[in-house]
Amino acid sequence: MSKKTNGLPAHVAIIMDGNGRWAKRRALPRYFGHREGVKALKTVVRYAAERGIPTLTVYAFSTENWRRPREEVEFLLDLMFKTFVQEIEELRQEGVRVRLVGDRTSLSDQIKAVWVKAEELTAHNTRLTLNVAFNYGGRSELTRAVRELASRVARGELTVEEITEDAISQELYTWPSPDPDLIIRTGGEQRLSNFLLWQAAYSELYVTDVLWPDFGEKEFEQALQDYMGRERRFGQVSAKEQNG
Ligand code: IPE
Ligand code: IPE
Ligand code: MG
Repeated sequence: MSKKTNGLPAHVAIIMDGNGRWAKRRALPRYFGHREGVKALKTVVRYAAERGIPTLTVYAFSTENWRRPREEVEFLLDLMFKTFVQEIEELRQEGVRVRLVGDRTSLSDQIKAVWVKAEELTAHNTRLTLNVAFNYGGRSELTRAVRELASRVARGELTVEEITEDAISQELYTWPSPDPDLIIRTGGEQRLSNFLLWQAAYSELYVTDVLWPDFGEKEFEQALQDYMGRERRFGQVSAKEQNG
């Protein structure tokens, strides 16, 4: 599965935040920001593919975003739906494999059908895997995984000792994507907001004040360069120190 990336992250995950503020600064309603955010997403997907990044995960709608005003929630659901209907053919041609990571049980039949079709249509693409975290929450993802493993134990299909870190990873929505090497958050907030809680164990974090609709190739490349200049230690002694 793993591809040679020459120091580039093999998996980049993005918390696409700041659409509302982008609109507010222009005295526009929030949905203008969401619409503009779709353009940024298209740019970033294309750039990730060009740059040879094998996996990109984008946080599009959290399990907590249902708490927003009904009109905004409806707008966001509709925007995602329309965007994927509109873009799927181009994504397919560009070699992008699309996957929905999140709880699909509570989505409407219409939205579910669009996802299934998008996933089927792009299932054989290998250039870039685009995981769209939609109705995604790290805690709900882990709760689902725990329930699944527990019911397998109850049925006698699994022993308690077989509940390993790998077994848990394999029950997450993101499986079989590797853990993200780099998590980018736009909009300046220094928090995960329930994104990839398990998978982020050793991810490098990059927060920029740039609002999501203003995030483009230049900003993406800057994040990649920043990542490539870091030393990842995974709990070990620094390589520099070890070599004297
Ligand atoms: C991110 O932008 C988009 C979603 C959460 C769907 P926001 O809508 O959170 O924008 P801000 O954070 O209010 O600026
Ligand atoms: C995180 O942004 C969720 C997405 C980008 C989809 P939020 O705007 O919902 O996060 P909080 O509320 O600032 O933590
Ligand atoms: Mg926000």
